Amino acid sequence: MDWKYKTVERSKSCVTLVCTKTDSTTNAMTKTKNGLDRRPNNQFCNHTKASTVAFNFSAEIDRLKDFKMAKKHQSVKILTLGDFDLRGKTVLLRVDMNCPIEPTTGEISGVKRIEEATETIEALSEAKVVVVSHQGRVGNKDYIGMEQHAKILEKMLGKKVTYVQDVIGTLAQSEIKKMQNGDIILLDNLRFCAEENYEFSPEDAAQTVMVQRLGKLFDLCVLDSFPSAHRAHPSLVGFSQIIPTCAGKIVEREVRKLEEILTVAKAPHVIVLGGSKVTDRLEAIKMLIKRGRADQILLTGLIGNVFMRAQARIKYPLGIKGEEDAVAKAHALMGEYPDVFFTPVDVAINNDGKRTELDVRLLNKGDQIYDLGPKTIEHYSKIISSAGTVFISGPPGFFENPDFSYGTKAMLEAVANSMATTIVSGGHLTSALKKYGLAEKITHISTAGGALVLYLTGEKLPMIQSLETAATKYRSK
Ligand code: 3PG
Repeated sequence: MDWKYKTVERSKSCVTLVCTKTDSTTNAMTKTKNGLDRRPNNQFCNHTKASTVAFNFSAEIDRLKDFKMAKKHQSVKILTLGDFDLRGKTVLLRVDMNCPIEPTTGEISGVKRIEEATETIEALSEAKVVVVSHQGRVGNKDYIGMEQHAKILEKMLGKKVTYVQDVIGTLAQSEIKKMQNGDIILLDNLRFCAEENYEFSPEDAAQTVMVQRLGKLFDLCVLDSFPSAHRAHPSLVGFSQIIPTCAGKIVEREVRKLEEILTVAKAPHVIVLGGSKVTDRLEAIKMLIKRGRADQILLTGLIGNVFMRAQARIKYPLGIKGEEDAVAKAHALMGEYPDVFFTPVDVAINNDGKRTELDVRLLNKGDQIYDLGPKTIEHYSKIISSAGTVFISGPPGFFENPDFSYGTKAMLEAVANSMATTIVSGGHLTSALKKYGLAEKITHISTAGGALVLYLTGEKLPMIQSLETAATKYRSK
């Protein structure tokens, strides 16, 4: 869509633009002293006189598009548990119990996502519930079976959970057929089935062996896997094609809350971005900027290190997968948006288990960056304090170790104490918030990481799309 913008009204404190689409309808918006305000009531008003305005039009136009994106989110229509009679039904419940795993012991080190899954399982107490989830990625240390998850879940629910060491084979199928009302089964890691490691169109996903074999055993599919809503895997987009499908409690809450937030979100939008899934993050960053969701991006963690390498402030390879490509992308992004990115000026390294703070230019090969340094903490906190909306994803340091928790604690405190609308994303930060007693001060907390970042860009996530399709298909039944 082509946008033109010309007409202006000025008063002491504001400037009104009129933006014209190629089909000659117009949108108006107001730039106030404090930043940009959108005026939905002025949409499609007609202005005839034109003059020029002296500020960055393309950014403002992007914001209008962004506003349209937010409006799009408002129209998410999905079915929920309340739309179905659940008694006696055999239900496939797709959750996200992808937990952090301690690499040396192979043990689950954070149970937040298992805890979250209990809410929908409890709401299905009169049904036969088959819970499914993925865990880790093929080839990684966190790629394990679901036996531990079943034990933890059983403890949390105070109710028997049968772990079945199979996903789509005869064992899984016969166990499902034997179930009684109130029974709960947890199948094995969905990614043990090769198909679950690929993305499909919904139509093709419906033809996979997984969906064909399991689909016929269920009356209803409940999708409650918000942290993996950005994946188009068979379990997330395939079942809705062949059986009634609705959202579980987490997805229902996330969608409602995020819609509310996106409609009122105010600039400046500050993103504090860390985490280890660098490739995913790099892809989302550009969309966040283009769609007016990121005015300032404060980088931390592994992705911060990648940007510091791209700035040549870290002069040695970091030793991460796909590093050269990631560094090139980071370099290009900083070239394209020079005022958006902030990287640490100082860090804390792990010096034989002790904290040593130093300027990033003094880093040497082999130094393990474990936290932000004090100057960076101060600088980032100031930026956060004047934000209109703050989104923080991925811990800035190894906060589990008190010596390296300063950055994470300080960033969360700055977010919690700001006047902004605040979103905290990801399992690690959710645990940290709880640990520091800050959870009450946050507008929205989500265990989702990458999915939430993409949701904020305005992208329609495959799992949400799948729920919307199901709502049109099965509403009248
Ligand atoms: C997550 O933890 O972000 C989700 O479980 C998705 O996992 P993935 O990035 O391995 O698909």
